Amino acid sequence: MTDSDRGTDARDPEYAGVPVSKINPYIPHPARIYDYLLGGKDNFAADREAAEALVKVSPGTREGVRAHRAFLGRAVRYLAAEAGVTQFLDIGTGIPTRDNTHTIAQEAAPGARVAYVDNDPIVLVHGRALLTGDPAGTTDMIEADLRQPEKILSDPTIRRVIDFTRPVAVILAGIMHFITDEEDPYGLVEQLKAAVPSGSHLLLSHITLDFADDVRREDFTKPYDNSSAAMTPRTREEVLRFFAGWELVDPGLVEVVTWRPDPDEYQERIPGDHAWAYGGLAVKP
Ligand SMILES: C[S@@+](CC[C@H](N)C(=O)[O-])C[C@H]1O[C@@H](n2cnc3c(N)ncnc32)[C@H](O)[C@@H]1O
Repeated sequence: MTDSDRGTDARDPEYAGVPVSKINPYIPHPARIYDYLLGGKDNFAADREAAEALVKVSPGTREGVRAHRAFLGRAVRYLAAEAGVTQFLDIGTGIPTRDNTHTIAQEAAPGARVAYVDNDPIVLVHGRALLTGDPAGTTDMIEADLRQPEKILSDPTIRRVIDFTRPVAVILAGIMHFITDEEDPYGLVEQLKAAVPSGSHLLLSHITLDFADDVRREDFTKPYDNSSAAMTPRTREEVLRFFAGWELVDPGLVEVVTWRPDPDEYQERIPGDHAWAYGGLAVKP
């Protein structure tokens, strides 16, 4: 496929500086599917088709995705406002939307330092333009892949933003289900956990089919089969393993909607009554 075959979207001046070959509008991407489900505009027809296929299998997908995003916001607010965390390494950032990690963290702690990592070039294009934080703090972003944690940990930008001798909140929200069992998801997370000192946190959320009584796994994962990353939902036990050796903060690993709900936050009803995602936060002893 040549650049000109890729359609006008990929040649939009907005994407200047990004090698066109890296943005393929014909293959659905997790970041763009998520963006569409959140009501964003940074997605292509292939992403919208995959997202609609998901909604067909799981009618509560849109509400569940919003509930997932709200969990991330509450957990980051807790970290910055209550746990005194000032450094955030957010891997699998997603396309910027409302309530991004740095906005929430720097609202509570203006000097907070936030480093974003994503492997989707579109996230980088929008991220560089939109993820500018409080001047008192530091916000930066790199394109890298979670499957190469050593590259993330040694990246000069990451090391400029994050001081690995002080506690760090490692955020893996909605990303681990894009790492297959063959790609050693637990080993990857352990490498990140080993790189940060005592007092650091792991914020992790993950798609599950534990509540999907009458949905077949292959029907749920199918919309991602032709995407840039396959989908691996995991059980609560399997998600819990990511936190091994660290102390879960109350209320532990729970459905995202029940993690420290904010009485002032509007809770919309999710069709089926479950968000199909677990969320948890743990601290390194
Ligand atoms: C569902 S979005 C989650 C966005 C945000 N963290 C949230 O929870 O709202 C998943 C993000 O992970 C990114 N991603 C998926 N696999 C990745 C990988 N192997 N390395 C880095 N980023 C990845 C996708 O590009 C996408 O932006």
